[in-house]
Amino acid sequence: MAYRITVIPGDGIGSEITDAAVEVLKKVDEKFSLGLSYDHKDAGGTAYDKFGTPLPEDTIASCKASDGVLFGAVGGDKWDNVDPALRPEKAILGLRKNLGLYANLRPVKVADALVEYSPLKPELVRGVDLVIVRELIGGIYFGEKCESEQHNGAERAWDLENYSVPEVTRIAKLAFETAKLRRGKVTSVDKANVLATSRLWRRTVAEVAKEHTGIELNNLYVDNCAMQLAVNPKQFDVIVTGNLFGDILSDEAAVIGGSIGLMPSASIGEETSLFEPIHGSAPDIAGKGIANPLGTILSAAMLLRYALHEEAAADAVEKAVDKVLADGIRTPDLAKEGLRKVNTQEMAQEVAARI
Ligand code: IPM
Ligand code: MG
Repeated sequence: MAYRITVIPGDGIGSEITDAAVEVLKKVDEKFSLGLSYDHKDAGGTAYDKFGTPLPEDTIASCKASDGVLFGAVGGDKWDNVDPALRPEKAILGLRKNLGLYANLRPVKVADALVEYSPLKPELVRGVDLVIVRELIGGIYFGEKCESEQHNGAERAWDLENYSVPEVTRIAKLAFETAKLRRGKVTSVDKANVLATSRLWRRTVAEVAKEHTGIELNNLYVDNCAMQLAVNPKQFDVIVTGNLFGDILSDEAAVIGGSIGLMPSASIGEETSLFEPIHGSAPDIAGKGIANPLGTILSAAMLLRYALHEEAAADAVEKAVDKVLADGIRTPDLAKEGLRKVNTQEMAQEVAARI
């Protein structure tokens, strides 16, 4: 066996958290003889500073040739005033588009040891186990846009949202297949009371549902879903939604699990897939060695599972993370009296030691 992984640290805490995840991958590799090799590439503001573009061709080429991509985070105030077409965020958006990563899976499972960190009451969060399936290369993110124009004597800007039946069908199928392997329930989220794209979304999802008997389908408006996530998150199994709603709901869902620092994600394409924590580049703590690497380590576990189909290795990483948390080991973001506080690198070593 031999697998090539493209590692893209990006900006801010990106290099610290991807280094930590690679350290854990090296330990899994030793244990399961996977034959992993790594190709480190630039993207984001760091790439912009070096090469004048947030997404060098060379980075895209490495991703296309790899078996899976591990991504850190991009962005930072430093690049707030660069041309919108060259912002660090264009790196991740460009990678999603170039690699055809049409689906983003964001699982939210609350570890027992972390129930107390949730802003919600323990009885609401204990046992939460849901996954958001977010459409990732369509919708308002990629529609036509205008940064500025004159209209009736005033400056205005606009972004167009469009969704086609094949785009919705593809993501809906993945959601139903995901539900089949879980508790058999899909909640499709839209704003069909207002938006035309949402009405097409809703009727297309209903068509796909006909081919998946045995799976329960519910439709929720996005505003209601946002509320339901706060009042009764346990009702959800698979949530499927468009790009913008998925972006917003997945941050909300992530914090239910206690900390956004722990949440992994998988962006799935037909040919390759990319794995990244859902948090950002945290420029305020970059370089201090204190970032929580668990979201990235769990993203590496998803890479092992979804890209390399190395189930046993993926399980080993997830179990090791559970053990570390159960053993009361915490990075500063989750540190408490009586628990052992460690830095980013030590956290990686603790996880590796439990594999
Ligand atoms: C995410 C992020 C990105 C998004 C940003 C960095 C462009 O918030 O992955 O959720 O909006 O998709
Ligand atoms: Mg987001």
